[in-house]
Amino acid sequence: MKPKMLKHPFQWDERKVHIEDRVWYVPDYYEKYEEFAFPGWEYLFSNKLPVRVEYCSGNGTWLSEKAKQFPEYNWIGVEKQFERVRKLWSKLKNLKISNLVALCGEAYTATRYYFPSESVSDIFINFPIPEEALEYIKMIKDGISSIEIFLSENLLQAHNQ
Ligand SMILES: C[S@@+](CC[C@H](N)C(=O)[O-])C[C@H]1O[C@@H](n2cnc3c(N)ncnc32)[C@H](O)[C@@H]1O
Repeated sequence: MKPKMLKHPFQWDERKVHIEDRVWYVPDYYEKYEEFAFPGWEYLFSNKLPVRVEYCSGNGTWLSEKAKQFPEYNWIGVEKQFERVRKLWSKLKNLKISNLVALCGEAYTATRYYFPSESVSDIFINFPIPEEALEYIKMIKDGISSIEIFLSENLLQAHNQ
């Protein structure tokens, strides 16, 4: 499966929250988030394994490797750019990774509206802009057991200055 084989399921003026073919779409500038009832992780993954989130998953290189390496967890990658979600989708299809789902949307919005409190076991953020990482930490809710933030050394130094 090539990334371009993932077609966006709706036009901008018909945007909606929608789950299809292992991608959960949470559009921006939308006024009806409350109308979509989160169906639960079990619906998304067909099991009750704990859920690990990678915010800002980009093309999904790290995430697809981890999902393969740790099948005892379900993994979800939250990424706002559709072109990057396509690349993650292509990886999860080609590598047949059944415990991985992409969420195409903005991290704070998706978390606020749809991730039920205490439902996520771990959060990972890899190489984001340091200031963004700090914002994401603020939105983490009670019940999430661990946070692992991986900042590249240069970015970390820049942040500390
Ligand atoms: C520097 S890249 C890192 C990608 C990947 N984690 C890696 O290590 O290669 C940051 C990614 O975060 C995404 N991003 C930034 N802010 C976001 C937000 N608020 N919600 C979702 N994705 C976001 C960007 O689109 C971009 O793909």
